[in-house]
Amino acid sequence: MCGIIGYVGPMDAARVVMDGLRRLEYRGYDSSGIALGVDGRLYFAKRAGKLAKLAELLADSPLPVSHQGIGHTRWATHGGPTDTNAHPHLSSDEQVAVVHNGIIENFAELREQLETDGVVFASQTDTEVASQWLARELRACGDLVQAMRATCGRLKGAFTLVAIDAAHPDTIVAARRNSPLVVGVGEGENFVASDVAAFIEHTREAIELGQDQVVVITPSTVVITDFDGNVKKGRQYRVDWDAKSAEKTGYDWFMRKEIFEQPRAVADTLLGRFDAAGHLMLDEVNIGDDELRAIDKIVILAAGTAFYAGMVARYAIEHWTRVPCEVELASEFRYRDPIVGPRTLCVTISQSGETADTLMAIRHARAQGARVIAICNTVGATIPRESDAVLYTRAGPEIGVASTKGFTTQLAACYLLGLWLAQVRGTKFGDEVADMVDELNAMPALMQQVLDRAESIYRLAHDLAANKDFLFIGRHVGYPVALEGALKLKEIAYLHAEGFAAGELKHGPIAIISPATPVFVIVPPRGRDQLHDKVVSNIQEVRARGARVLVLAEAGDESVVPFASTLIQLPSVSTLLQPMLAILPLQMFACELATVLGHDVDQPRNLAKSVTVE
Ligand code: M6R
Repeated sequence: MCGIIGYVGPMDAARVVMDGLRRLEYRGYDSSGIALGVDGRLYFAKRAGKLAKLAELLADSPLPVSHQGIGHTRWATHGGPTDTNAHPHLSSDEQVAVVHNGIIENFAELREQLETDGVVFASQTDTEVASQWLARELRACGDLVQAMRATCGRLKGAFTLVAIDAAHPDTIVAARRNSPLVVGVGEGENFVASDVAAFIEHTREAIELGQDQVVVITPSTVVITDFDGNVKKGRQYRVDWDAKSAEKTGYDWFMRKEIFEQPRAVADTLLGRFDAAGHLMLDEVNIGDDELRAIDKIVILAAGTAFYAGMVARYAIEHWTRVPCEVELASEFRYRDPIVGPRTLCVTISQSGETADTLMAIRHARAQGARVIAICNTVGATIPRESDAVLYTRAGPEIGVASTKGFTTQLAACYLLGLWLAQVRGTKFGDEVADMVDELNAMPALMQQVLDRAESIYRLAHDLAANKDFLFIGRHVGYPVALEGALKLKEIAYLHAEGFAAGELKHGPIAIISPATPVFVIVPPRGRDQLHDKVVSNIQEVRARGARVLVLAEAGDESVVPFASTLIQLPSVSTLLQPMLAILPLQMFACELATVLGHDVDQPRNLAKSVTVE
């Protein structure tokens, strides 16, 4: 949701914090701010708008040089995106400055209590309650760490808090509950941040913080405790990507770069997960075979794009394992009192590993006794940590808010998981699994072939740039592709775009088609004739209403040629794997159309990369 960084060390803290915020800006970008401690005083600057506004402010009125700083880039929850509501929030006595990610659910009650005691608030945020409360505890005990623990004990909800105290220019105190926080371990300097991207140019050594923990960093020490003061040891790990991976490397947008990274990313997802004979080896998924054989239901939980990956996965997993598989929006799951138990396997899918809706769904599932396997891209994130096992997608950092390589690598991981379950449960013979593994192995090269035809997709985006409504239809695994194609266009082009199950169109939505409405149709490969022919009939239905039909079909499928206003050819693959190819033109189309319309593709309005509030 928001991006947070804190730095103590010999470098110019303002520069380190601003560089870190640039890398975190994808997490929230409606306002930003920075606070520094110098000679027993706190200095700060904050601005509504993108980070560039804060950079302009600092260029006009530089802050003094400091070696301790915190910064924040915001996605507003409580209080609009104004200068005053931007973080950091200083206490009235200007003794502490706090940045915060999350939502403090009992902020109104705490604010009332503080106001009764005479505290005057400057902003409408829940965060200012934390800073005022922290200052009050600090006045009482004289120690920022103790004050932080006491404050955390009073807060309900989700929060990462990072604080500095004017009296201690070499110390930063941070705490987390249900919200991400990672420590960057340098030499003679240390960092805290929402994610490793913030400090990756300085160090690749990171420490995960557990739930309800407080960390104190100085240039030479990192001390972790729980909220009761018991010392804890965080898991230290080395980040397996570098600063260059988080740069645009010549592309105009991160999203476009990430689209073109997909063949490599999918290859990395598959790497080392099967032997030469095509036998799957998911050793990291350390749940016993007996337990996996006993499973009688699979429930996939995810949000947004990851949910659509889950919809595709359901077809593959059910088909290969013959275990009933449900897929559910994480945000809805626990409210329907779902039937899960020790024989249920939950599969959660999350690029960031921090999505609050998904995290809460996991907790609910585990409380009912279910086992949880996370498919995740972010090593050490909360969701994999709270799951029984994890299959990392290894896509590298995804910075563009609209997920692209996140989706295709999630699909690859889901296919691996499905085949592995089939292997363990014996519902597929070894040679059948090996054949699918061969097909999966061939996917990166086929994806590259689709990406190589980007120019024709870009031309289409220019042709259709004046349209305000777009429809996407598909059946079977083509249906989630249609939903994902529509989501991409909504997110970054701000256009009305809807995805439908092709067979459902005639039950109502077909009424919205008017002459020349662009309708993208995902046509399945010809292997399953019924499925293919039904979609060809659906094409004719929309065509008869005057729609402009943009057909995605496998090369050589002549049956669609007479009905296609535009034909986008895809390499031939099995039906179940086609989404990995069919989504690529739709991603490129949305990226180009949003560019033509002059939108900020990487930071679309109202959105944030990682949604850490429910
Ligand atoms: O990090 P996650 O995969 O858990 O995120 C889930 C959704 O918030 C995410 O996919 C969102 O829908 C993207 N902006 C889609 O492009």
